Amino acid sequence: MSERVDTMISAEEIARRVKELGAEITRDYKDRNLVLVIILKGSFIFAADLCRAIDLPLRVDFLGVRSYGEGTESSGVVQITNDLSKPISGQDVVIVEDIVDTGLTIAHLMDLFHTRNPSTIKVCSLLHKPVRARVTVKIDYLGFTIEDKFVVGYGLDVAERYRNLPFIGNVLRD
Ligand code: IMP
Repeated sequence: MSERVDTMISAEEIARRVKELGAEITRDYKDRNLVLVIILKGSFIFAADLCRAIDLPLRVDFLGVRSYGEGTESSGVVQITNDLSKPISGQDVVIVEDIVDTGLTIAHLMDLFHTRNPSTIKVCSLLHKPVRARVTVKIDYLGFTIEDKFVVGYGLDVAERYRNLPFIGNVLRD
C-alpha cells in the first residue's frame, strides 16, 4: 500500500494567516499579562510561528495532553502527560491548539484552567472541523475552518508521523 499527502493549506497560506492572528492578539493584549499555553505535541510548530508574530512581552508555557491513541478517533478521554510549569492565576491565558475536532479536549482544558483562577482565558486554534463537534466550544482566534478530513503536517500527526511537513494535507492511501 502506498501513501501520499495532498496539500490542503500551503505553507504560504498558513504563514499569511498566522501573521494576521498574531497582529490581532497583539492588538487585544496590549498592557495585559499574556501567557500562551501551548498544547503539545500538535501545536508546537503553529505556536513557534504564532508567538513570533505577536509583538508583546508574553510568556509561554506547555501542556502535554493525550486524547488519541494510535488511531484517528477521539477517545473522549484527555490525559495530562505534562502539566504547566507555573501557576496561571491572575494571568491572561490564550490556549494554543492545533485543531478543534470533537471539541472534547478544549472543553476539558477550559474546565481545568478555570479552576486555576486566570484573569481571562481564550482559545486560539489553527484549524476547526465544525461538522465533527460533539460539544460547543468558543474559538476566539481561528486560522482555518476545514472539511471533515483527517489532516497532517505543520505539527499534526497520524501515529506520530508527518508532523514535520511545512503544509497541511490529508493522507491518501492506494
Ligand atoms: P478533539 O478533542 O476531538 O477536539 O481533538 C483534539 C485533538 O485531536 C487535536 O489537538 C489533535 O491532536 C487531534 N486531532 C483531531 N483531528 C485531527 C486531524 O485531523 N489530524 C491530526 N490530529 C487530529
